[in-house]
Amino acid sequence: MEQRKLGDGPLAGAIGFGCMGMSEFYGATDDEQSLATLEHALARGVTLFDTADIYGFGHNESLLGRFIRGKRDRVVLATKAGIVRSQSDPALRGVDNSPIYLARHCEESLRRLGTDHVDLYYLHRIDPATPLEESIAALARLVRDGKIGGIGLSNVTLTTVRAAHAIHPIRAVQNEFSLFTRTDQDALLPALAEMGIAYVPYSPLGRGMLTGSLQRQDLAADDFRRNLPRFADDAMAINARLVAALQAIAARRHLEPAQVALAWVLRQGPHVIPIPGTRRISYLDQNLAAATIELSEEDAMELQRIFHPAAVVGEPYPNMSFMR
Ligand SMILES: NC(=O)c1ccc[n+]([C@@H]2O[C@H](COP(=O)([O-])OP(=O)(O)OC[C@H]3O[C@@H](n4cnc5c(N)ncnc54)[C@H](OP(=O)(O)O)[C@@H]3O)[C@@H](O)[C@H]2O)c1
Repeated sequence: MEQRKLGDGPLAGAIGFGCMGMSEFYGATDDEQSLATLEHALARGVTLFDTADIYGFGHNESLLGRFIRGKRDRVVLATKAGIVRSQSDPALRGVDNSPIYLARHCEESLRRLGTDHVDLYYLHRIDPATPLEESIAALARLVRDGKIGGIGLSNVTLTTVRAAHAIHPIRAVQNEFSLFTRTDQDALLPALAEMGIAYVPYSPLGRGMLTGSLQRQDLAADDFRRNLPRFADDAMAINARLVAALQAIAARRHLEPAQVALAWVLRQGPHVIPIPGTRRISYLDQNLAAATIELSEEDAMELQRIFHPAAVVGEPYPNMSFMR
C-alpha cells in the first residue's frame, strides 16, 4: 500500500484502521472475528491502528494488545485520553486534560496495550477547565520519557492546533471528515499540510451511511448511531438521497460507494490518512482497494456538489452541553 508520513513520525499505510466498533457503539462484537480482521489488515499493508481508552471501557485497547503481541514493531499505534466516562451511566461524558489525569491514563493505556510506548497519543477532546499549555506540557513530558512518540489533537479547530503547535510539535489531528462532514476542507487541511502535521479523518464512511448498505431499521436498539441527528428517521431519509447519487457515481465506475467515499478523502492531500472502521474482512478488502483509485477532478466536483453542506441534514453529534 502507498505509504504516507504521519506528521513528524513514522510512515504508515495510506489507509489506517479505526478499531472502535470492535468494542462498542455499532452493535454486537466478536473478539475472534475482530482479531482475524486486524491480522488481515496488517497483512494487506495497514499499519496505523487507532483506539482510545474509553472504547468499551478499556476493552478496545486490551483487544489491540492481544493483536500486537509479538509484532509491536510492525504497527503504528495511536490511542487517546481526555474523555471521562462512567460505567454506571455509559451515556455520560466529561472531559479532563489535567496533567495528573493524562499521566495516569497513559500508564493505564500502555498496560492494556501491553507495550512501553505508543506512536501517537491524542487529547480526545479539549478540556475548557485546563489551560492548553498545561496539557501540552504534560504530553511533552510523556514524549521526553519515551512513553508516547508524538502528540495528537482530536476534535479541534485550527486556532487550537496553532496554539498547541507553538508549545510543542503536534504530530496529527484527528477530526470527523467525510463527504458528509467537510468542515475542515478549506482552512484546517491546507494549514496542517503547511505545518507538517498529519490529518487523520475519523468516520470517513459517515459511520457507515456512505456505504449505501445501512438502513435505520438495521441498527440494534443500543446502537450509538440512533442518538445522532444525522441518523434520525427524517434526516436519514433525506441523506439517503445523497447516498443514492453517490451509488450512481460508483456504479458508473464499477466501484462500491464506500470506495468512492474513501478515494475522495484520500485525494485531499498526501498528509491525509483516514481510519475507516469495520469488523469484517470482506468490507476491509473493499475499503483497501480505495487506495488505488484515482477520482477525476470532475468526479470530485460532482461529489462535492451532491454533498454540499447545505444538502446534508443533521449535525454529526447531538447537543453535548451535558459535558462538564
Ligand atoms: N476522535 C473521535 O472523537 C472519534 C470519533 C469516532 C470515531 N473515531 C475513530 O474513527 C474510526 C472510524 O470511524 P467509525 O467507525 O465511526 O466510522 P466509519 O469508518 O465511517 O464507518 C464504520 C461503519 O461502516 C461500516 N462499513 C465499513 N466499511 C464498509 C463497507 N465497505 N461496506 C459496508 N459497510 C461498511 C462498518 O460496519 P461493520 O462494523 O459492521 O463492519 C461500521 O458500521 C473509529 O473506529 C475510531 O477509531 C474517532
